[in-house]
Amino acid sequence: MKALIFERNGEPSEVVHWRDAPDPTPGPGEVRVRMLLAPVHPSDLHVIRGRFARQRQPELPASPGSEGVGIIDAVGNDVPRTRIGERVVLLDVPGTWREQIISPADRAIPVPEVISDEDAAQALINPMTAWAMTVSEHQLGCGDWLVQSAAGSTVGRLVLQIAKVQGFRTINLVRREEQVAEIQALGGDVVLCTADQNWPEQLKTATGGNGIAKAIDCVAGRTGAALARQLAPNGCMLVYGALSSHRQSDPAAFEMPIFAPALVYSAAEVRGWFIFSWLARKGPSESGQMLRSLLDGIARGTLKPPAARRYHLDHAPEAFAAAESSAHDAKPLLAFAEL
Ligand SMILES: NC(=O)c1ccc[n+]([C@@H]2O[C@H](COP(=O)([O-])OP(=O)(O)OC[C@H]3O[C@@H](n4cnc5c(N)ncnc54)[C@H](OP(=O)(O)O)[C@@H]3O)[C@@H](O)[C@H]2O)c1
Repeated sequence: MKALIFERNGEPSEVVHWRDAPDPTPGPGEVRVRMLLAPVHPSDLHVIRGRFARQRQPELPASPGSEGVGIIDAVGNDVPRTRIGERVVLLDVPGTWREQIISPADRAIPVPEVISDEDAAQALINPMTAWAMTVSEHQLGCGDWLVQSAAGSTVGRLVLQIAKVQGFRTINLVRREEQVAEIQALGGDVVLCTADQNWPEQLKTATGGNGIAKAIDCVAGRTGAALARQLAPNGCMLVYGALSSHRQSDPAAFEMPIFAPALVYSAAEVRGWFIFSWLARKGPSESGQMLRSLLDGIARGTLKPPAARRYHLDHAPEAFAAAESSAHDAKPLLAFAEL
């Protein structure tokens, strides 16, 4: 079989190569999955560059890739043979950019037939992030308010879909004026544009002067700091990204200056959030159950991952470039079977 492999950290288009690799054999409790599609997330490119969370940097050589969809084509001798032929998504089995991958059987989650390969391939990371932060961590229910930054991001749009189902309301930040109407049309209750210098005042008005009870932020930097400054008494903000630092070499862009008195006097909390820590904390049984619920939501049409575009492996560098381009028209998917 063949696999996309990197032997050293560096620019993905230079260090990732399509190489021969031995066919893997599933051991006890394992299945072998013939991969169909795997997305290229910006975080996968950070792994290749050696700039991702240390605990997620694989020993090299390795295949990148953090999720995907495929078909079980072999099983360990204690796994029912009836699983052969099942279409599955992988629950935190890293290294998905390869034709065949070994997965623990309980981390290969069956996909309902009505779901397209494109939607299944991206069912884990962004939908789970949106769902876990809002429903599991913040426990948002009917009538609650959430403030979110980068509302136009994939995660942000999924949050808006979850808000409709759970009945919570949203105050959304975007950085471009053109996105205001778009996010309103997707159900954002209040949409503010951070290009308007006055947005922190507008936010104060939008919260009725009561401050922010619950927020999620993936921009950090000055935007995240301004949000933290408006946290309500006992408010909580989950920081899950640092987009203001992307493609910048200035170390200051990675910082988020917190105004200490506001935090102290409101006894508020600003906490980091990372899907892989969360999945590890939940374990495969509970997180597998959550992934099944997300797949049900996708099957029912209440949750819709973004549009996707398939890239043949000969065009992998184009997929890498698309993953980081500012035109977010389609999630790039690497296609391991014929297009
Ligand atoms: N912690 C976790 O476990 C976890 C899990 C999933 C995702 N994430 C993080 O969540 C973030 C969003 O991911 P995604 O896949 O949803 O992103 P995405 O679809 O690629 O969208 C990025 C969005 O962020 C906006 N943006 C980019 N740079 C910005 C900046 N400096 N200030 C304000 N807005 C900015 C873009 O706006 P334009 O449209 O104007 O370009 C775009 O709407 C990323 O940082 C990702 O790493 C974290």
